[in-house]
Amino acid sequence: MAQLFTRTASNAFRVLIVLALFSVVGAGVLGYAWSRADATWNVGKPADQPVPFRHDLHAGSLGIDCRYCHSTVERAADAGMPSAQTCMTCHSQVWVGASVLEPVRSSFALGQPLTWTSVHRLPDFAYFNHAAHVTNGVACETCHGRVDQMTKTVKTQTLSMGWCLDCHRDPAPHLRPREAVFVMGYKPHGQDLPEDIQAFYREASRRLTSCNTCHR
Ligand code: HEC
Ligand code: HEC
Ligand code: HEC
Ligand code: HEC
Ligand code: HEC
Repeated sequence: MAQLFTRTASNAFRVLIVLALFSVVGAGVLGYAWSRADATWNVGKPADQPVPFRHDLHAGSLGIDCRYCHSTVERAADAGMPSAQTCMTCHSQVWVGASVLEPVRSSFALGQPLTWTSVHRLPDFAYFNHAAHVTNGVACETCHGRVDQMTKTVKTQTLSMGWCLDCHRDPAPHLRPREAVFVMGYKPHGQDLPEDIQAFYREASRRLTSCNTCHR
């Protein structure tokens, strides 16, 4: 059979085809790495806030309970955010004239809510519920990290669907006793849970991984 292309031309084509294949694979690998990268999910990135509130000071050094400011966390889907009035219970006594607290004082005086910028925000099509977790032994620290050591509040987990599912497939090892849910620096000992509770979660994982648990 007569040759359609010269030998050099066919070799050039072969090289091109191999290069094309490599770039498809390469783009796939890069895309995957990008979607898994923490930076894609704003992990570790603080947001601008009206007041330089510090958890390390209030929840850490002063040891104020999370529920003092996030008061609906055990009862509702939303954790709840503190009103200016909550801040003023102390800041009408300490740091009274401080200029950094001016937004708190004026919001208190005008009866308008403080507008904090969210660092954790799921898209509207995903449903989350604090009470369901907090009352079943999933700790703040497991999802939000060492908040008591943060000068600026940041995400420590991606909050991606893959991250939710990693736990929902087998929650037991991540669980704590109820009284340790608000404790920081505690090691979960879910591995030692009684067999009936472990069995409950093996059974529950089917419900917990079904799409309409989180997409309703
Ligand atoms: C239970 C009491 C208490 C509550 C409630 C409280 N604070 Fe404070 N806060 C303090 C104390 C005490 C200090 C001063 C600590 C010091 O001087 O070392 C302080 C300091 C501050 C500072 C200055 C921090 C710095 O060193 O830069 C800011 C800003 C602040 N608080 C904001 C707030 C906001 C906003 C709220 C409400 C969401 C709030 N605080 C609620 C007790 C409280
Ligand atoms: C004195 C009040 C106060 C206490 C106590 C407190 N927080 Fe907060 N928290 C705030 C304020 C004000 C903000 C908004 C500003 C910011 O993000 O730093 C906030 C924001 C957060 C956020 C980010 C919310 C978002 O929009 O994404 C998380 C998570 C959080 N707090 C967890 C905790 C945990 C866990 C504890 C207990 C260890 C705790 N907080 C104790 C006042 C408080
Ligand atoms: C299972 C993981 C998980 C646990 C446990 C958890 N959170 Fe959250 N938290 C989230 C997610 C996800 C969001 C974003 C929710 C959204 O956008 O709908 C969030 C948002 C928040 C917010 C922002 C306000 C709001 O409700 O949207 C605060 C404040 C907060 N969490 C505090 C806490 C505190 C305090 C605890 C412990 C008592 C806690 N969280 C336990 C995952 C968790
Ligand atoms: C560290 C473990 C863990 C992580 C992370 C986690 N969950 Fe859960 N989730 C649980 C456990 C445990 C339950 C409660 C199961 C029970 O006892 O009914 C639960 C329950 C729920 C429920 C209520 C289910 C029902 O049947 O009412 C929803 C909704 C939910 N999770 C959504 C999410 C979403 C969305 C995320 C990610 C943003 C997430 N969860 C991350 C452990 C986790
Ligand atoms: C435990 C909770 C949970 C379950 C179960 C779950 N999802 Fe999700 N899903 C999420 C969260 C949170 C997000 C938003 C974060 C993200 O995009 O990863 C999401 C995002 C998505 C997206 C948008 C992805 C994107 O890249 O924007 C699709 C599509 C989706 N889910 C489909 C499904 C399907 C299909 C199932 C059942 C097989 C399912 N989900 C089960 C929590 C869940």
